[in-house]
Amino acid sequence: MARHQKVVVSGLVLLALAFFMVFEIGFQRAWGYEIIDTTIGFDQVPLNISSDFEIQRPYDVPQSARYSFVDGVHELWVYSTDKPHTPTSNTKPRTEIRILGHNYSSGVWQFEGYGYVPKGTSGVCIMQIFGASGDHHATTLMLRVYNGTLKYYNTDLVLDPNIYDKWFQLNVIHDLEAKKVMVFIDGVHKLYVNDRGGNAHHFKFGVYAQNNDSYYMESRWKGIKIFKKC
Ligand SMILES: *[C@@H]1O[C@H](CO)[C@@H](O)[C@H](O)[C@H]1NC(C)=O
Ligand SMILES: *[C@@H]1O[C@H](CO)[C@@H](O)[C@H](O)[C@H]1NC(C)=O
Ligand SMILES: *[C@@H]1O[C@H](CO)[C@@H](O)[C@H](O)[C@H]1NC(C)=O
Ligand SMILES: *[C@@H]1O[C@H](CO)[C@@H](O)[C@H](O)[C@H]1NC(C)=O
Repeated sequence: MARHQKVVVSGLVLLALAFFMVFEIGFQRAWGYEIIDTTIGFDQVPLNISSDFEIQRPYDVPQSARYSFVDGVHELWVYSTDKPHTPTSNTKPRTEIRILGHNYSSGVWQFEGYGYVPKGTSGVCIMQIFGASGDHHATTLMLRVYNGTLKYYNTDLVLDPNIYDKWFQLNVIHDLEAKKVMVFIDGVHKLYVNDRGGNAHHFKFGVYAQNNDSYYMESRWKGIKIFKKC
């Protein structure tokens, strides 16, 4: 190829690339799918997988019967017929990781993790912000899966209509000053709701049976990080 032809060809390639990028960004904006780095302006809080992760599971089975940690992936599962996590609890069965040592009562906090929910898991909470005010609520946020749909509690607020069998990035921001909770899936803003008060919060993830729970429930998690606004 002659030199001037090469210049023309690479110029065309650049032009195509630029056009594609502008189109792509315009497309995302037009559909409200702007991808956001939600951690800008936040500091990462150090997490220790041994001392900061408390695994809750049905009290009468060994941990290895409901939880595994292989190649950086936490796999948590539970059966609808399982016992609660303590002999005195009246709650439904759960296998959940509770973040210890990072209870918070003020400021702006963020949970980040990559989650995976296999097809069939239903009627279950996979992530929660524990803590609320008053006697009526224990939590400020629950993300639940019903028949493949990821929802805010058992409401019509849908975060993802097809959550099964794929890894997704989850970012949850709790702003205690504004009393708001924001949720992002794969960097796209999906939920903006009021929090439910309270002054002792922590993050949890895994599987916690709710209404209409399937017999088997499972979720997988990796890349768990906690951030606090600087
Ligand atoms: C994490 O916690 C465990 C158990 O408390 C401790 O032995 C270990 O030294 C800690 N690791 C780091 C990197 O701090
Ligand atoms: C964190 O909050 C939980 C639930 O409110 C409580 O049981 C626990 O004692 C708290 N931990 C610390 C270190 O304050
Ligand atoms: C899930 O789908 C099944 C089959 O379509 C249906 O019978 C069941 O009621 C649904 N459950 C919920 C909680 O929507
Ligand atoms: C379970 O799902 C069915 C069908 O979707 C619904 O009618 C019923 O109210 C649900 N049960 C509970 C306890 O939410």
